[in-house]
Amino acid sequence: MKRIVTKLALLTIVSCVAGPLLASETVPVKNCTWCHGPSGQGYSNAPRLAGQQELYLDAQLMNFRTHVRDNPYSRDFMWNAVVHVDEDMAHGFASYFASLPPEAANDGNRDLVASGRNIFEFGVPEANIAACIVCHGPNGEGVRGIPRLGGLSYFYLKRRLEEWAEGYSPAAEPMPKVARSLSGRDIEALASYLSFLEYGAER
Ligand code: HEC
Ligand code: HEC
Repeated sequence: MKRIVTKLALLTIVSCVAGPLLASETVPVKNCTWCHGPSGQGYSNAPRLAGQQELYLDAQLMNFRTHVRDNPYSRDFMWNAVVHVDEDMAHGFASYFASLPPEAANDGNRDLVASGRNIFEFGVPEANIAACIVCHGPNGEGVRGIPRLGGLSYFYLKRRLEEWAEGYSPAAEPMPKVARSLSGRDIEALASYLSFLEYGAER
């Protein structure tokens, strides 16, 4: 009996410390984090979700469900991963991952950072390349349905831009058109710069 009482007391203490229900307890995030990394910081081919804009995450989960996002890795990994994710669960996942603090991947080519920053901030008017900053914000932090780019991995950013230029996921306005105007070198420079960009960091 004494042992049970002690156990109960312990449970009460633990649940008091844990406080209100964590978002991770309302949706099965383990189904996601084995690919996206334990704190959603990204892993291998699966991008960082931590700190991503909530509305953007929500919209992408629906885009995987409806197959609107149809590039190879989305087909191979995400179409299956969201088969049982309904709208309510999508909101839960989006708000959970958006609430995690993001870390920068820092995996681009440092030599290309200056040229990437230049394109990000000013575009290339003569090549009809829009300044990314206008939509994605000064620290690449995004807003609402526009994603945070700062600190995403070089490989993921490069792949996304290349795949839009190749014609995948054509409904992701305005990005297919933006990506088609970029050269291979522009894409490498942008992906490098953004991989080192920390939200709120001194610039
Ligand atoms: C088997 C591995 C795997 C699992 C499991 C998985 N993902 Fe993914 N996820 C990926 C890969 C790979 C991509 C990149 C797709 C691409 O290249 O466009 C991705 C992309 C995403 C994106 C797009 C991010 C962006 O910046 O556009 C979101 C959102 C996402 N996953 C959420 C989830 C959620 C929520 C779960 C759990 C329900 C989950 N994923 C489970 C592998 C996985
Ligand atoms: C007019 C606004 C606008 C401009 C300018 C713009 N973007 Fe975007 N970008 C968006 C929107 C909206 C999305 C989400 C598209 C979707 O998937 O529906 C997006 C998505 C992206 C993504 C996907 C991020 C992820 O998590 O998968 C990347 C990468 C990106 N943009 C890079 C750029 C770069 C680099 C530039 C400049 C050359 C740029 N964007 C210019 C609006 C813009």
